Amino acid sequence: MQLTSNDIRQKYIAYFVKRGHKQIPGSSLVPENDPSVLFTTAGMHPLVPYLLGQPHPEGKRLVNYQKVFRTDDIGEVGDNFHHTFLEMLGNWSLGDYFKKESIPWSYDFLIKELNLNPDRLYVTCFVGDSDAPKDEESARIWQSLGIPTERIYFLPKKDNWWGPAGQTGPCGPDSEMFFDVTGKPCSPDCRPGCGCGRFSEVWNNVFMEYNKTADGKYTKLSQPNVDTGMGVERILAVVNGFTDNYQTELWQPAIAKISALCANSYKDNQRAFRIIADHIRASTFIISDAIEPSNKERGYVLRRLIRRAIMQMRRLAIDPVEAGIVQISNIFVFIMSPVYPELVVNKQKISQVLKEEVLRFNKTLDHGLKEFNKLQKIDGKVAFDLFQTFGFPWELTAELAAEKGQPVNQEEFKNEFEKHQDLSRTASAGMFKGGLADHSEVVTKYHSATHLLHAALRNVLGKHVHQEGSNITNERLRFDFSHPTKLTQEEVKKVENMVNELIKKDLPRNVESMTYQEALDSGALAFFKGRYPEKVTVYSFGDFSREICGGPHVESAGKIGQLKIYKTEKIATGTQRIYVNIGK
Ligand code: SER
Repeated sequence: MQLTSNDIRQKYIAYFVKRGHKQIPGSSLVPENDPSVLFTTAGMHPLVPYLLGQPHPEGKRLVNYQKVFRTDDIGEVGDNFHHTFLEMLGNWSLGDYFKKESIPWSYDFLIKELNLNPDRLYVTCFVGDSDAPKDEESARIWQSLGIPTERIYFLPKKDNWWGPAGQTGPCGPDSEMFFDVTGKPCSPDCRPGCGCGRFSEVWNNVFMEYNKTADGKYTKLSQPNVDTGMGVERILAVVNGFTDNYQTELWQPAIAKISALCANSYKDNQRAFRIIADHIRASTFIISDAIEPSNKERGYVLRRLIRRAIMQMRRLAIDPVEAGIVQISNIFVFIMSPVYPELVVNKQKISQVLKEEVLRFNKTLDHGLKEFNKLQKIDGKVAFDLFQTFGFPWELTAELAAEKGQPVNQEEFKNEFEKHQDLSRTASAGMFKGGLADHSEVVTKYHSATHLLHAALRNVLGKHVHQEGSNITNERLRFDFSHPTKLTQEEVKKVENMVNELIKKDLPRNVESMTYQEALDSGALAFFKGRYPEKVTVYSFGDFSREICGGPHVESAGKIGQLKIYKTEKIATGTQRIYVNIGK
């Protein structure tokens, strides 16, 4: 039976209302009374005071659907399951029921109400650490419902802990439900959380009994809460047997519209189509919640979304002024306004803001491109100046610079940006999360993995390979490099094996300080040409890898853990992108 998004919203609300929950309205994308974050990122966001113990006027059991926007996922958009804007279905217990009610209800809803195949359901639970114990109870409940132990995974905080939404506040271990959408493991280690496209995370039950304090400690809350969240886009795809969210009724009309506006096929330009659709939908909702493009905070995020969409439209030869942006936005107004009537009320405003931003961007783009072509050297400072003067989004400068063979370091751009903007700490962290922003242990491991990978790629594919960019999060490394063709399965394996061999050998790390010229003479790679100080640090791993770099790095390769390339793609002519995980 095919279900619509509306069927799902209604079934969900009805299911929990029947179990004593009160439906509460969703909030604006712009959080009220919370200056610490830019956007509402989860359904629990507006409920923070009540999770902390304040009585909610509607009682202890609540349910709703909520618009959310996640800046952090902007780089993932284009894959099968990630969006910047999404809708979350959520149910909450404010110091009322806990795991033994919440987990069976989730199971029952997925299997009995939505008819999902229980054999394809996988779950994860918190493995425990010094802040909180292993969540054996959740695992036992899942087992009692019929999920076999081999489909229950215990994972650490980075996978199975949710919150706080800002820097401090309610949070806790969670139990996540994944649906195996393809039935095809990418490797013997393929498991929930693998980015290969097999597993879609459909629901997250957070057992919020902790409060993270400003000094980074976790204390017990006065009441144990449950906070669950299920993305409408994902569950809709899964319920209807689709392998990606864009096959659903929420996206198909926009994909069809983009196809009609250009001569390029969706099949060959999936990423571009998806970015356009995702970003215009998100912009439509953000403008409807009274934000306008600017160079600060929320307005900057909006500007970035619109301009990223325009860049992709230009790439597909769609004219954003005459046809593109407003027509695509109108499709989302049409699809979503039965659920979010504010979109119709604000339709005029949305079109006008989008159109003005396109015109503004076109003007600066033409002007800026002329200036750009005169530039000799492009670094973070120049990238920031282009942003300040011509409104060039970071992505545009990075792309143009890469075409010129002068990749720019995003860290430098960020530093410049932060120097010039009076942004709150959290706001800027939220906006820019995704670069090499923190030096946690995992990030350090990924950083070292980057060096080994760079060297291995050069070894396997040839010396023309040069790093063009990288982006590290706690979950993965994204690495862009110069190479004409998408990597074959065989090449991927070779590179992977080579790096894993070095990790197994536990190659020692060495750090030396020398002049830039000496470093080059000694064979060190320096991929940001011309932006180094006179004295540089060179990191090497055995004789295999040698790079000028600021660090930090692990002491020896063995600390990295098993490396896996889980996704490869061509992102521009002559530029390949790979995604890498390291061992759990
Ligand atoms: N807050 C959790 C999430 O967003 C559950 O709703 O995933």
